[in-house]
Order: sequence, then structure tokens, then C-alpha cells
Amino acid sequence: MTRFIYIADTHFGTSRMAYQQQQGYPEKLGSILSELDAWIRKDGEVDFVLHGGDMVNSATEANIRKARGAFRLSVPVYLCLGNHDLTAPDAVDMWLAEAPEFFPGKSPDYCLRFGDSIIHIVPNHWEEVPYYWNDKQEPHFRPHQIARLNESLRKYPDAVHLLSTHSPVFGIPVEQTGFGEAFHVPPPSFTRTVLDFVQQYPRVRCVLAAHNHVNTHVVEEGVHFVTVSSLSETPFEFRLIELGPGILKMSTVSLISRMDFEAKYDYNKTFVQGRKRDREFEEL
Ligand SMILES: [Fe+2]
Repeated sequence: MTRFIYIADTHFGTSRMAYQQQQGYPEKLGSILSELDAWIRKDGEVDFVLHGGDMVNSATEANIRKARGAFRLSVPVYLCLGNHDLTAPDAVDMWLAEAPEFFPGKSPDYCLRFGDSIIHIVPNHWEEVPYYWNDKQEPHFRPHQIARLNESLRKYPDAVHLLSTHSPVFGIPVEQTGFGEAFHVPPPSFTRTVLDFVQQYPRVRCVLAAHNHVNTHVVEEGVHFVTVSSLSETPFEFRLIELGPGILKMSTVSLISRMDFEAKYDYNKTFVQGRKRDREFEEL
């Protein structure tokens, strides 16, 4: 059994996030991560933390170096690079030099393998320049990423596979938001690419994403598509995922009661935390 924490969109290195859904406190990340680590130590059964991207607000050597220190927890931390982690053309080189332990494969694309479970870290691209983001929101995978995934999925046909990328695969459903139409919808081409992939490989059971700062859980083709709210925003939530032979389970945990500062919450936007079905599931 593998038990891990999934967090995202921490935006380390700023005191103001350009995009947020609830009030963000990235300047308090020291306290937030310290409470996360206290939770991990008390729980005692977490194997690692997977960060789904936008660990930092912008990619500079200083920011990455400081983030490496801030994210030194009691368990290993792995990162799937998000757009804000890639704001310099040489961002990947900086990450691999300054924080190599976040990338066990010495590459932004790698696998985490635990018994018969495999998590494929596949950071999507945004612009023509690979692994770089300026302002375009055109999520896509490159042929080398698809080839690598194909190879790995064929190599381990009996394993349970999870994908981790930064861009959501689906918009936030109207049933969750109450809006007139789906919110924060990715381009249809990205949705199609991922859906084609999971249809080809039924052993892919779950796709983890981030970027929208909202807890979502959409089930399509029998696959669980999950996003998580920003750990830096009230009420400081993370996903707890359990994966093992015949089990895939997710719950959502808030750290708000542990915080030593007053954090604002917008009760007009409770959709960010999601309904019960967006916050937990269990598949046996
Ligand atoms: Fe993002």
C-alpha cells in the first residue's frame, strides 16, 4: 500500500498571487508547511508528498533554492512542474541543479514506482518553447512524453497507473459551481489527448492535475480526474491518496485549525472546497 499527500499551487516567493480562488497566504508558507509536516509526523504513514506544480511563483535560482529549503519535510517531496515553475527558458536546468531531489529520474518527466503502482509525472507544456511559460494557456504534451508513457504502460501491463500533470483535463462542472457554464475549461484538444490515452490504457485509474486552485473530482471513462485547491489558500487543504492492490482511495484534509494567524474565507465560494463527491472517493 502506498499512501501519499497531493498538494499544489503554493506559489512560494510572493506575497500576492495573481490568480487565487480563496484568500492566499503564500508569505505564510513557512508556517503552513511546518503544520503540514507536523500532520505527516503525527499520521506516521505517509510515504511521500507529490506537488502538482506552481511550487514557486516564478523560476529564479534564488526562489528555487529557498523553496528547496522550505519544502524539506519528514518525507520525500516530488514535483510535477507547473507554468509558474517554468517562467525562464532555462528553468528545468535550474530546478535540476538547485533541487535535484524533487526529480528522482533527473528529468522533469519521471516515474514513481511502488510495488504494483506507478505514478507517471508528465508536466504539460504551454508554449512553443519546451518547458517554458510566458503567458500562453495552450496545454499539450510533446511526442517524447507520449512515447515515454506508451513504453512504460506497455512495460507494466498489470500495474495500476496514475498520471500527474499540471493542467486540468476538465473544466469545473456547473453542478459544483452553480455557474451558467463550466469554469476554467482547458482547450478541448488537451481533454481529447488525455481521454484518448486513458481509453487506450484502462490501467490508468486516476489523473492528478492542479492549476485551477479548486478541489474537483470528475469521473469519465471510469477514470478519476482530480484537481486540488491551493495549499497556500484558506483553508489550506491537501489530498490524501491511498493506492494498493485493489484499492484507490482519496480524502481531503484541511490544516486551518492548526494555523496561528487569522485567515479569511469567502463563504460565497465554497465550491472551491467541493462537494462530498469532490472531496473523497473509494474504489475497491
Ligand atoms: Fe498553474
